[in-house]
Amino acid sequence: MNILVIGSGGREHALAWQCAKDSNVKTVYVAPGNAGTALEPKCQNVVLKPSSSEVGEHSAVIDFCQNNAIDMVIVGPEAPLVTGIIDACRNAGIKAWGPTAYCSQLEGSKTFAKEFMAQNNIPTAAYQGFTDAPAAKAYVDEQGAPIVIKADGLAAGKGVIVAENIEQAHAAIDDMLADNKFGDAGSRVVIEQFLKGEEASFICMIDGENILPMATSQDHKRAFEGDLGPNTGGMGAYSPAPVVTQDVNDKVIEKVIQPVVDAMKEAGHPYTGFLYAGLMIDEAGDPYVIEFNCRFGDPETQPILMRLQSSMVDLVEQGLKGQLPTEAKWDSRPALGIVVASKGYPETSSKGDAISGLPELEADTAVKVFHAGTAFANDDAVDSEKEVVTNGGRVLCITALADSISDAQQAALAVTGAISFDGAQYRRDIGHHAIARENG
Ligand code: AMP
Ligand code: GLY
Repeated sequence: MNILVIGSGGREHALAWQCAKDSNVKTVYVAPGNAGTALEPKCQNVVLKPSSSEVGEHSAVIDFCQNNAIDMVIVGPEAPLVTGIIDACRNAGIKAWGPTAYCSQLEGSKTFAKEFMAQNNIPTAAYQGFTDAPAAKAYVDEQGAPIVIKADGLAAGKGVIVAENIEQAHAAIDDMLADNKFGDAGSRVVIEQFLKGEEASFICMIDGENILPMATSQDHKRAFEGDLGPNTGGMGAYSPAPVVTQDVNDKVIEKVIQPVVDAMKEAGHPYTGFLYAGLMIDEAGDPYVIEFNCRFGDPETQPILMRLQSSMVDLVEQGLKGQLPTEAKWDSRPALGIVVASKGYPETSSKGDAISGLPELEADTAVKVFHAGTAFANDDAVDSEKEVVTNGGRVLCITALADSISDAQQAALAVTGAISFDGAQYRRDIGHHAIARENG
């Protein structure tokens, strides 16, 4: 069979690599992909452009699927999900895995997500939405700091400011509502209570009815070691996350995931695809939702899929039929991924810097270098002579499987340390919460 993966990040490299491992798969096309997906056996990058500007936004995907005998589309990022790529594919009779535009509002609009959680008693931080800066500031003054200011709508993980004091909160409100001084409802902020605890990512596959939890994981959102610096899309992740004990796992299903499945079904929009709940787990082990994402996490996908022993293709096929199993097979060893970002990330990013020290493909099956923002400087050369260069903020995610999280961290660091490019930055402390637990 042939598969089309949409996206170009580390998540999509990991998804494509997993799918390519299935012996029933002939070709995994990745649109647009990166240098890593181009070099991956059985994988091929494609650029999809609509045939004319008159046709719908997703027509290029539909045309490609119809012309290339695509059996299944797996959508990585949120943007095409929010604009209805799944609805468009289904209408054209193409099998596509992901949530519909309606369901993707859980990620696409923080206001929708917050109202949905309130209506369905899903635990989350208290909040209020504002379009007016003075009113937002008055609310902050009344609530006190720390407090969290979020831009409504998609902001690639950068639209969130955890303000330590009132001045920072006011500045964030001015930034986000600056274009909205005259009450244009297009710009809106959500102001949230600050939640204390340890974060975890809880990702599952849902087929409208059945829930298949993926292995648990934890991301590191801040740019610098010690969880300091600005929020990023994620600087590294590992799986499993020891903070998610069996008891916490059961609470998450009961209080968070099942209510989403039930409410979406009730609303006439059954949830299908990956669902990601970003959680804060408090001291009592109770989960609070920080955010929903309508997709797999990046970089959580990389360590999670390193551990997946079931076929992703089989799981998606079963999901598309409404026959998801309740468990998948996992490697019992933990996996940990370190993101190497380019100079200036997350504020800016650089392109075109040569990357050296990348290991040979498949030299070591316990370590995998997933590419994200990479491209070739010389696209026309034969594979062995292609030069890989940076092409975005998060460049690589070096992911290792080992007997403990600290061993996985060391194995990933050893490979990461051998790779270099101008301005490369990464954290050496990915997994620190779990390693502290391992060390008692
Ligand atoms: P989000 O984009 O909503 O996931 O927020 C990005 C990051 O900001 C989260 O991963 C948390 O580290 C932090 N954050 C967001 N909301 C809260 C909150 N209500 N309390 C504490 N931290 C938060
Ligand atoms: N790692 C968090 C995300 O995918 O947004």
